[in-house]
Amino acid sequence: MRLLSLAVLLLRLGVARATYSLTEVEAQISSYLDQNSTQTTRAAPPFGCAVACGFLAFTLPTRLSYPDSLTYGFEESRYWSQQQALTQPACRFSPISAEEVSLAVLAFRVTQCKFAVKSGGHAAFAGASNIEGGVTIDLINLNGIAVSADQTQTSVGAGNVWYDVYTHLQPMGLTVIGGRVSAIGVGGLTLGGGISFFSGRYGWACDNVNTYEVVFADGSIHNVSYSSPYSDLYWALRGGGNNFGIVTRFDLATYPQGDLWAGAQTFLYKNDTAAAINNAFYYLGINAPSDPYAQVIIAYAYAQSEGVYVIASDLQYGKPVPDPSILQNFTSIPGAVANTLRTIDLANLTLEFNNTNPGGFRQTYWTFTVGNSPSLMSDIVAIYMDEVNPIKDAAGVVPSAVFQLITTDVTSHFSKNGGNPLGLAGQGPLNLVNIDISWSNASDDARILAAAQNIVDRSIAAARAQGLDNQYLYQNYASLQQDVLPSYGKANLAKLKSISAKYDPANVWQKLQPGYFKLG
Ligand SMILES: Cc1cc2nc3c(=O)[nH]c(=O)nc-3n(C[C@H](O)[C@H](O)[C@H](O)COP(=O)(O)OP(=O)(O)OC[C@H]3O[C@@H](n4cnc5c(N)ncnc54)[C@H](O)[C@@H]3O)c2cc1C
Ligand SMILES: *[C@@H]1O[C@H](CO)[C@@H](O)[C@H](O)[C@H]1NC(C)=O
Ligand SMILES: *[C@@H]1O[C@H](CO)[C@@H](O)[C@H](O)[C@H]1NC(C)=O
Ligand SMILES: *[C@@H]1O[C@H](CO)[C@@H](O)[C@H](O)[C@H]1NC(C)=O
Ligand SMILES: *[C@@H]1O[C@H](CO)[C@@H](O)[C@H](O)[C@H]1NC(C)=O
Ligand SMILES: *[C@@H]1O[C@H](CO)[C@@H](O)[C@H](O)[C@H]1NC(C)=O
Ligand SMILES: *[C@@H]1O[C@H](CO)[C@@H](O)[C@H](O)[C@H]1NC(C)=O
Ligand SMILES: *[C@@H]1O[C@H](CO)[C@@H](O)[C@H](O)[C@H]1NC(C)=O
Repeated sequence: MRLLSLAVLLLRLGVARATYSLTEVEAQISSYLDQNSTQTTRAAPPFGCAVACGFLAFTLPTRLSYPDSLTYGFEESRYWSQQQALTQPACRFSPISAEEVSLAVLAFRVTQCKFAVKSGGHAAFAGASNIEGGVTIDLINLNGIAVSADQTQTSVGAGNVWYDVYTHLQPMGLTVIGGRVSAIGVGGLTLGGGISFFSGRYGWACDNVNTYEVVFADGSIHNVSYSSPYSDLYWALRGGGNNFGIVTRFDLATYPQGDLWAGAQTFLYKNDTAAAINNAFYYLGINAPSDPYAQVIIAYAYAQSEGVYVIASDLQYGKPVPDPSILQNFTSIPGAVANTLRTIDLANLTLEFNNTNPGGFRQTYWTFTVGNSPSLMSDIVAIYMDEVNPIKDAAGVVPSAVFQLITTDVTSHFSKNGGNPLGLAGQGPLNLVNIDISWSNASDDARILAAAQNIVDRSIAAARAQGLDNQYLYQNYASLQQDVLPSYGKANLAKLKSISAKYDPANVWQKLQPGYFKLG
């Protein structure tokens, strides 16, 4: 007992809000190993994840779970894609405070154990927010939500999903700029950008964070804002993903918001319908700044059970005004086979989107960005169909090509508070494309991934041939094969690397947390 440090004792009693240094945690792990006579060897570092798990289980027993426990199984079931849910860490750690996150990071440094961090678990590919044989920090218990007295800011624990945030704020007539599907996490969406129903008015989620509470690689905890001593880090966090620390709390700008007018019109694919939709999309790209309350998502998909291609025209207007003129080029298109457009509250709208994006399947997400052109959009749809036709028979396949605008009213907010690193300020309108395929049987992985890659490569080539290519890759939609951070531009990448070198000289976030998009 004498070998246990005071900090560990205090933590076990739940009274300490201490932060640690690397040497303190090294000493704690030494004393843990000394005391635990059943621990077979105490080899020189790196000790590995067995020691990290054992130390955390000893120090914070209620936060640590091993395979076969109920907690571990429950947390593993909360990933959206099958590839992530099938990934098995040696143990899972579910901290309840930034201090506990700090202790874990330092323990991983001492033991050289590789780790992953999970918020809502919606990143699709294996290893994005889970890690085979390593330790996953599951932020699920960082679930606080607190609105400031003047109702201009909401402090949100990094493990919340957007539904919980919206249902908290909605009765007060308030909202924040976040995801459009109820079950997405606050953490991943906000650190990669974050397209919201309200982005025409306020920009992306990353442009609406006042302060990030961040655990640095040395275990220290800081409030990072534009006006803090860490304004360079603040810039990097606005799109830099998981490369700059573990964010434990987001203080989000908060705005008045009531009901929307929103829903989907669904069409069977016909060339003239597609042409009308692509034209309406093109003109909205140009006209959006005249009414930034409008947003659209156009999804081309193959409906396997009916053997037909369909087009879903998802329209949203940020006020409860039916059929606003800005959206009438869409609503006047004849022949919809289904139409759910109506006045609806935000939380229910995100549930509707969650229902159309079920979890539990194999998933792949890809992205690219092109100029605003209805004929290029038709060319991309033709490429998509050409590549989907040979995989149509794959069990449970749902392949979609999803088009969204990055308009000048959106990018005008990118430069607020010192700007973001995405490299898009002053650009637009652009067409952000997401190729997203789900299916059931792993034996189809290779041909489906090849089809997705072909759609992307051929579409980019078509755009380039027309002088309409754009280098930007949206992190939140990218596949692991895509080089996201260089797509922000040479100067932004160089700046991100220098900020990483300044705050993380030991390369903890680059090397010990290997999943997801790294600085390279
Ligand atoms: C069905 C569906 C709908 C979507 N809708 C939208 C949408 O409306 N708008 C949009 O912009 N995007 C959308 N996306 C994309 C989404 O933003 C990304 O998948 C995002 O990564 C999900 O965040 P998450 O927290 O759920 O994911 P996670 O898988 O938990 O995290 C993603 C990455 O972020 C890291 N990370 C998460 N939290 C933290 C933290 N606190 N500190 C440090 N690193 C962290 C993780 O380590 C991981 O590398 C959607 C995706 C899906 C599957
Ligand atoms: C001691 O180590 C063994 C082997 O790693 C482990 O099973 C046991 O749980 C540890 N005991 C404590 C108190 O951590
Ligand atoms: C960060 O800000 C919060 C809220 O303003 C405050 O309670 C906390 O003490 C600050 N943390 C640090 C490390 O400065
Ligand atoms: C519809 O468009 C596709 C792809 O552009 C083309 O191959 C096909 O011939 C068109 N069909 C008709 C009826 O115009
Ligand atoms: C609707 O489409 C027409 C061309 O068909 C275009 O002139 C007009 O600007 C569009 N309106 C909006 C609001 O996009
Ligand atoms: C969702 O809609 C239902 C039915 O209109 C309503 O009763 C409920 O309050 C809404 N949910 C939320 C979270 O507002
Ligand atoms: C989202 O849908 C999944 C089913 O795919 C369901 O398990 C989950 O509870 C839903 N989450 C929310 C927050 O609506
Ligand atoms: C997956 O596909 C393989 C190869 O076609 C087949 O043998 C297997 O039965 C399929 N699995 C399921 C669950 O359908």
